[in-house]
Order: sequence, then structure tokens, then C-alpha cells
Amino acid sequence: MSDLYRNKKILAPMVRAGRTPLRLLCLKYGADLCYTEEIVDKKLIEATRVVNEALGTIDYRNGDDIILRLAPEEKGRCILQIGTNSGEKAAKIAQIVGDDVAGIDVNMGCPKPFSIHCGMGAALLTQTEKIVDILTSLKSAAKVPVTCKIRVLDDPEDTLKLVQEIEKCRVSALGVHGRRRDERQPDKCRIDEIRDVAQAVQSIPVISNGLSDEIEQYSDFEKYQLLTETSSTMIARKALSTPSIFRREGCLDKYEDIRNFLELACQYDESYTMTKYVVQRILGADQEYDPRGKATVAAGSVLQICKAFGMEDVYDKWRDERKKKQSKKRARVDD
Ligand code: FNR
Repeated sequence: MSDLYRNKKILAPMVRAGRTPLRLLCLKYGADLCYTEEIVDKKLIEATRVVNEALGTIDYRNGDDIILRLAPEEKGRCILQIGTNSGEKAAKIAQIVGDDVAGIDVNMGCPKPFSIHCGMGAALLTQTEKIVDILTSLKSAAKVPVTCKIRVLDDPEDTLKLVQEIEKCRVSALGVHGRRRDERQPDKCRIDEIRDVAQAVQSIPVISNGLSDEIEQYSDFEKYQLLTETSSTMIARKALSTPSIFRREGCLDKYEDIRNFLELACQYDESYTMTKYVVQRILGADQEYDPRGKATVAAGSVLQICKAFGMEDVYDKWRDERKKKQSKKRARVDD
């Protein structure tokens, strides 16, 4: 059994946020693994794989939309999370991505109407046969480890029955968010129910999730890993508000986190909406009180966001770098 999911501090999947810049920032700070945002099967199946020489990345794109952008530093450390309700489509994705990613995870916890109506996310939790179909199809097609991420069920006995069926699919790990389908923050994470899963599932690593309200410093990763008796800990909201939570040396000031994030957003040519979303989440209440926060709210482009933090030179530097590489490539083609 691979150690990929053992003793790891993990960036959880987050739609809009878990893209190249935030993933890279968390890895640089000290995260061991990062999950992509959930990507719905159809989007990846319809995407084209392109080696982006100007950025040094592998891109899956649909027209101008970057569905997935993988940087070299992520090799072996980035888990693709998919949203699916079909074993066949899941297997197709495994064939498409090959080993561009370190693993493939299936989202079985998303309670949003969009996922539920399409039979994806938390809708799967009560359909064990469908789960088995998806995981076994994915496993037979995948070059990389396969995992899934669930929420706990309303009846803890049902959770245990479900995870034992998942274990039989011989997945490489199981992520457990300790909240029920209808629970949200500030509902407490059900630490005991995560521990019950970890005790029931002995043959594969269990990854605890849902503990952002508890994790205040680096040492809390280990504390909650021990408390839940899980193999690894995965966090979402805390990593979004304070990416430097992954630094062994301690968290940084939020404005340093923002500057480090913006540098990567410029380097990897992230879109304005995704960049603004993450910066706003790090700013939190400062959006209303701090001049840099207010300027971010008013910004209409990545350049304007950079200007709010006195980083227009960084924006220009990476734009020029890209242009240089693109014109070199054009010159090679003309030769
Ligand atoms: C999420 N979550 C989530 N989960 C998932 O499996 N796939 C996804 O794409 C997303 N997207 C997402 C976006 C944002 C902005 C947030 C805050 C959360 C849920 C997330 O991974 C995690 O399960 C919960 O947030 C609980 O963990 P924390 O926040 O307590 O660490």
C-alpha cells in the first residue's frame, strides 16, 4: 500500500479556490498534497490537453477556459478531484489524465443542489451500488491511486456500513468530512464519528476533514490526527483564509500571504475572478476596513488587484516573461 496518503497535511478540494496558485502556495509553505477543485467529469472529457510552453504547465482547456492547469512543482503531489455519477465517465477521465496527476478522488460529499440534482456529490452516499461501480471502474482504468471523499451519514451505523463497502473497492484512501449532508458551519465537526470510521477501516488510510474551526496553528494538524486516529488531515477553510497555516515555522501576516499568492497568480496567469475570490477570502473583514481591501473589492482586473498591494511590477514582470517565451516559440515555428 502506497504511503501517499499517510501522515500528510493536505489542502482540501475547493471550487474556485483550489486552482494552480493556491495549490502551489500551500505546497511551498509545507502542505504535502493538494487537491484540485472539483471538476465535473463532462468538463474534463470535453477539454483538450495542451503543453503550455510559455508557462511550463500542462493545461486542460476548453476554448479560453482553463479547466485544469498543472505546474511542474505539483508533480506527484496533486490529486484531481472529480464530480461524477458514472463509472464509465470516471474511467474515461482516468484514461485522459494518465499520470499527469498523483491521484484521482471522487467527490461524494458535496451537498449543493447542482451536484445533488445531477446525482453527484452527497447524492451518491445513499447509493452504494453506484459508488462501487464508480470506484471499481475508475480503479481498473487509472494509472494512479483512486480515493473518495464522503460526509458522515445521519445514522453512524450507516456510515460504518458504507465505508466498509468502500474499503472493499480497494481504494487507496478515504477522506471523511465529519458533518452530515444537511450540516454546515457552525455545526460542529463530528470528531467521534470520524474516529469510528478510522477504527472500522483498517486496511486503508483515512483522512480527517472538517476541522478548520479547530486548527489554529501548525501543531494542531498532529493533534487532530491523533484525536481522530486518522492517517492524515485535510483542511479547506483555514487554508483559504490563512494559507501559511501549512508553515511549520508559523503563520504569516495575511498581507504576506496575499503577496505570495498574487505572485503565483501572475506567474500562472490566473483569471481575474479566481484571483479576486482568493484574495477576498484571505482579506476577510479587511475588505471593508483596509484601503488595500477596499481597492481589491473595486478592482476589475488582476492588474488592479496587484496595484492595490503595490505589486504592478510583479504583474508586468510575469506578463513580459510570458510574451518573451511566446515570441521565442513563434520564432522557432517560423524557422
Ligand atoms: C469546499 N468543499 C469542497 N469539497 C469537495 O469535496 N469538493 C469541492 O470542490 C469543494 N469546494 C469547496 C469550496 C469552498 C470555498 C469551501 C469552503 C469548501 C468542502 C471542503 O473540501 C471541506 O470538506 C469542508 O470545507 C470542511 O473542511 P474544513 O473547511 O473544516 O477544513
